[in-house]
Amino acid sequence: MHATGGRAAPPDTFEWRLPPGFPPPRVPPDNPMTPAKVELGRRLFYDTRLSGNGTQACAGCHRQTLAFTDGRPRAVGSTGEVHPRSSLSLANVAYNVALTWADPDLRSLEEQALVPMFRERPVELGLAGREKELVARLEADGLYAGMFRAAFPGEPGAIRIGNVTRALAAFERTLISGDSPYDRLVYQGRMDALPEAAWRGMRLFFSDRLACSKCHGGINFAGVVVFEGMVGRVEPVFQNTGLYNLGGPGNDPAEDDGLRSVTHRRRDTGRFRTPTLRNIALSAPYMHDGSIPTLEAVIDHYAAGGRAGDNNRYKSLLIRGFAITAAEKHDLIEFLRSLTDESFVTDARFADPWRSPGPVR
Ligand code: HEC
Ligand code: HEC
Repeated sequence: MHATGGRAAPPDTFEWRLPPGFPPPRVPPDNPMTPAKVELGRRLFYDTRLSGNGTQACAGCHRQTLAFTDGRPRAVGSTGEVHPRSSLSLANVAYNVALTWADPDLRSLEEQALVPMFRERPVELGLAGREKELVARLEADGLYAGMFRAAFPGEPGAIRIGNVTRALAAFERTLISGDSPYDRLVYQGRMDALPEAAWRGMRLFFSDRLACSKCHGGINFAGVVVFEGMVGRVEPVFQNTGLYNLGGPGNDPAEDDGLRSVTHRRRDTGRFRTPTLRNIALSAPYMHDGSIPTLEAVIDHYAAGGRAGDNNRYKSLLIRGFAITAAEKHDLIEFLRSLTDESFVTDARFADPWRSPGPVR
């Protein structure tokens, strides 16, 4: 990608292989991308030694075939504890302004990786208080000694938590999905990429009547993104989509009140980040609590203006309900299915290296 003036690129030069139309992700200055670091991150991502009891890896809740989600309504940690929320897809996570369902302050993948490793409520990987044990486990594997040396050259004692999270983050930044039928149409100009029904569904998705794209806009169908070369600081946006039935039985907002639990502002009740719709056909069930089983039911939810209608006074003004015919619903689902990127979920670069050896050993 970069001109090298006729000389071969040094072996540790990382090249993004970006789909047409995609800007390079922003990378923190203290964690530059290198092939050796990405390869190490991939190893760690799939390594169950990263959990306290050795049963679960990051990949246990973020499976490639499911666009790095887990197929469960709510995640289940290494000790069996049920997480209040559903696993998020890691497709294009490098472009997210803020991470997780409702945290405006969690901005880097390096920081985020500490959450599943060490947080105790709920337990995910269950490594709290076991930092030394984790380092010892990794040191005991000769493969890691070489990989950490290659990823963090010239650093004595490179096997440490800060470098584990750096490597994980570097791997996660490579998880870029931009080769769906929709992308082939929009970014590659292939007019035959979308079936008729998906074309019609696309018009509905971007229509004022349905308003889906008002929130699920931009390159990632998730609103505003960050990327390299972008000027200024952007703020994440959180919305209440009327999931809470505040008027009667149903979801109890006290269990997970979204952004409000961080800001303690009443108006932030039930507000969550708009997630990407890329590969959405692969990541059922839906919403932060996994409470909607299918795409059809998601559309019904929006068509009804949310669960509690006007009983929910925190709901976004964009969630106002709309009429939709059965044929239109079918078309809209076809459009959402056209966001599935088969090459992303089968790409060998993102697969489990313990099963299929990768380029670096
Ligand atoms: C027990 C299942 C589980 C495990 C194990 C797990 N995650 Fe997650 N992951 C989740 C859930 C649930 C969320 C959403 C959390 C929230 O919103 O509070 C999430 C969110 C994320 C996000 C934010 C994505 C976004 O779009 O904002 C990233 C990044 C992530 N996980 C990476 C990792 C990494 C790296 C590991 C291993 C160190 C890991 N996860 C282990 C369940 C898991
Ligand atoms: C007001 C902004 C807004 C509008 C309008 C909107 N969405 Fe959403 N969407 C969100 C937010 C926020 C979530 C996550 C809500 C939650 O879990 O609490 C979401 C979740 C989803 C999900 C589930 C994603 C997942 O990973 O679980 C799908 C599918 C979806 N929306 C599709 C649509 C479609 C189709 C439309 C148009 C009919 C639409 N959305 C309109 C903001 C919006």
